[in-house]
Amino acid sequence: MPYIVHIKPNDLILHVNPGETVLQAALRQGFSFPFNCQNAVCGTCMGRVLRGKIEYLNDAEDELCEEEKEEGYTFFCSAIPKSDLVIEMFNVEAPAEEPVKTVSYVAATSHALSPNTLLLELYPQNKEEALIFRAGQYVYIRQNEEAQAYSIANAPDDSGRIELHLRHTEDNIFAQKVIDLAKVQQPIALSGAYGHCVLHAHPAMPTILLAAGTGFSQMKALIEEALNRSLQNPIYLYWGARKREDLYAHALALEWAEHYPFIHYHAMLSAPEPGTWDGDTGYIDEYVVKQHVDLSGFQVYASGPPDMVFSAFDLLTKHGLNADFMYADILLLGK
Ligand code: FES
Repeated sequence: MPYIVHIKPNDLILHVNPGETVLQAALRQGFSFPFNCQNAVCGTCMGRVLRGKIEYLNDAEDELCEEEKEEGYTFFCSAIPKSDLVIEMFNVEAPAEEPVKTVSYVAATSHALSPNTLLLELYPQNKEEALIFRAGQYVYIRQNEEAQAYSIANAPDDSGRIELHLRHTEDNIFAQKVIDLAKVQQPIALSGAYGHCVLHAHPAMPTILLAAGTGFSQMKALIEEALNRSLQNPIYLYWGARKREDLYAHALALEWAEHYPFIHYHAMLSAPEPGTWDGDTGYIDEYVVKQHVDLSGFQVYASGPPDMVFSAFDLLTKHGLNADFMYADILLLGK
């Protein structure tokens, strides 16, 4: 059972798992929480325990003077709750929750990423009304009574731009209508932003991004966000698809891996056409557990069809992944 930590003066509630520090729990849940060294040295995470019991990671308590101890001061990067707590910590903010709204966007550009995947670059008709979103979230495209969800493929920037990777086939009438509107630059209604699968900056935690098909779009946004925030935790991007053409941004992913030493990329196909692929074949989650036999200490983001996400969840947690550190919108719906 997680402990409940009541943070004053902002009256925020944090759930901390057994064995977890207050800072780890705050970052896992997307709070903005002051920290720097994560090692009971800099004092950035220092606050007071007003009620409840803690224990310390390592010998962090030795870094406090007697007066600080008497007043309840502690380093929250090293404080592990042993009961529910009331703490005093300034400058803590809850994860931003923007109200969901529907806004008209217009396609500035659209081009084929593959024979059946189109990149749409959309801007709000009125910039003041742009949707506020975080990297990793998704929007619904709305048409009359119908709506379909699409991951936003970029990290937010000042322009209000939203990039979508639209998979279309002849029998997907909804997508065909969106493409028709985009071609003639007619308004497209987007509502959002939705989803809690956003980047959690767990200190020094290696990150696995697991994408199937156009699930790559969400991972692209998370990588852009990590680069914008200059995070350098190791990132392992694994992308699985059926055919070579479905790896529609293979060159971009290879480029990331070449330019950033902390980004690693591997793609595999489950049903390549003869002569189109000389890489690995099979299922990407099975490849991940061969590469990382022990996944304790990792965080994983997954995006793709529900079957793939659930099967990856089962397999990866069997290999030591803490279930609390697997993020996928389909899983978070139940949390
Ligand atoms: S983050 Fe530096 S002391 Fe906790």
